[in-house]
Amino acid sequence: MNQDDMKKAVAKAAFDYVKEMITDGIIIGVGTGSTANYFIDELAAVKNDIGGTVASSEESATRLRAVGIEVMDLNAAGPVAVYVDGADESNQQLHLIKGGGAALTREKIIAAVAEEFVCIADESKLVDVLGKFPLPVEVIPMARSHVARAIVKLGGDPVWREGCVTDNGNQIIDVHNLQIMEPRKLENALNQIVGVVCNGLFAERAADRLFLGTSSGVETHLPRN
Ligand code: 5RP
Repeated sequence: MNQDDMKKAVAKAAFDYVKEMITDGIIIGVGTGSTANYFIDELAAVKNDIGGTVASSEESATRLRAVGIEVMDLNAAGPVAVYVDGADESNQQLHLIKGGGAALTREKIIAAVAEEFVCIADESKLVDVLGKFPLPVEVIPMARSHVARAIVKLGGDPVWREGCVTDNGNQIIDVHNLQIMEPRKLENALNQIVGVVCNGLFAERAADRLFLGTSSGVETHLPRN
């Protein structure tokens, strides 16, 4: 199985899992990225059986609508039963780094609202210590340099993702060379910097379940203590 096959396999596993939850009017949260896109392809099969979806990016919303799935404003939607999304890294506690696709803020909002957060990823994403993948931080444009200086004080190497404008009209700083031993602590420290909108550490709200694609099949991981 190559990486793409693993992404398809975990999307199918998540779809089979979500299918069992379907009740009249259920709202499903849908993430962003190549793995989430495969989940959207699967979800099309039940488009008439669900109440609708909320999407973590304009890109996913467009993709959902293209296959005939209703996309709702989160403010108008009812409770979100489950949120399915990919990740850039996960540790064994299912703390994640997300935001490689610059959708971290809306992803974190839907993850916070959802009753259950299901992560789907291929085996390259599972790590012992988070931080090899540069940690995305969404910033208000005028605060970018201020935030970058504060990140240096926290021990990271900030790099502006030039040309990237988020769906919220903001910019992204990718923080390199971190070894994140205490994900919750760093997540909260970054949130204290004025000008930070959101950071891509999902530790306060970790995933509840990870479907991990491996060469020998899909593994189910629950958070380890
Ligand atoms: C987007 C994300 C994605 O979930 C993450 O980048 C993984 O993407 P892919 O499934 O393409 O590997 O956080 O902001």
